[in-house]
Amino acid sequence: MKKFEELFEIVEKTLSEKRFYHSRCVTQRAIEYAKIYGANVEKAKIAGILHDIAKEIPKEERVKTAEKYGVILDEIEKKSTGLIHSKLASKLAEMKFGCDKEICDAIAYHTTGRENMTLLDKIIYLADFTGQDRNYEDTNYMYDLSKKDLDKAVLYGLEKTIKMRIEEEKLLHPDTLKAYNFIISKSL
Ligand SMILES: [Fe+2]
Ligand SMILES: [Fe+2]
Repeated sequence: MKKFEELFEIVEKTLSEKRFYHSRCVTQRAIEYAKIYGANVEKAKIAGILHDIAKEIPKEERVKTAEKYGVILDEIEKKSTGLIHSKLASKLAEMKFGCDKEICDAIAYHTTGRENMTLLDKIIYLADFTGQDRNYEDTNYMYDLSKKDLDKAVLYGLEKTIKMRIEEEKLLHPDTLKAYNFIISKSL
């Protein structure tokens, strides 16, 4: 597995300045959350810096690129191509940088979440919402909540995504619903 410093330079060369900044902001939050919740900080850093490495592959090329790398896409991903960048980044992390499954999964599910998310999944999922480059009205609320109660913050993020997708009449990935149901059913 490549070291964080090396990956940092690769991401800097691969992405635009704006997205590289976003990736650094996500990494910063991932480090903070990993320290609070006792996750592996090096893995959190690596997942954070790599999570959007495939996001600048044009949407119309993503399905083809996925085929090329042997990434299996479901029907929702094929139609909602915005989601594909997570799966592609995960595959690149595995193939090109030798990242382990824990890191690759956290990258793969950073947009949708999934059933029974790991600690690292949750950290990257929330780091992506709460980086200091984000300026939604609830960013600070989510940041504070993430530091206090990781599961509540994940639930908030999932609900936000579900509401938004419905409002915009866009496809909703089943993994997001599964993640939501999993957390809700734990508290019943
Ligand atoms: Fe992303
Ligand atoms: Fe991101």
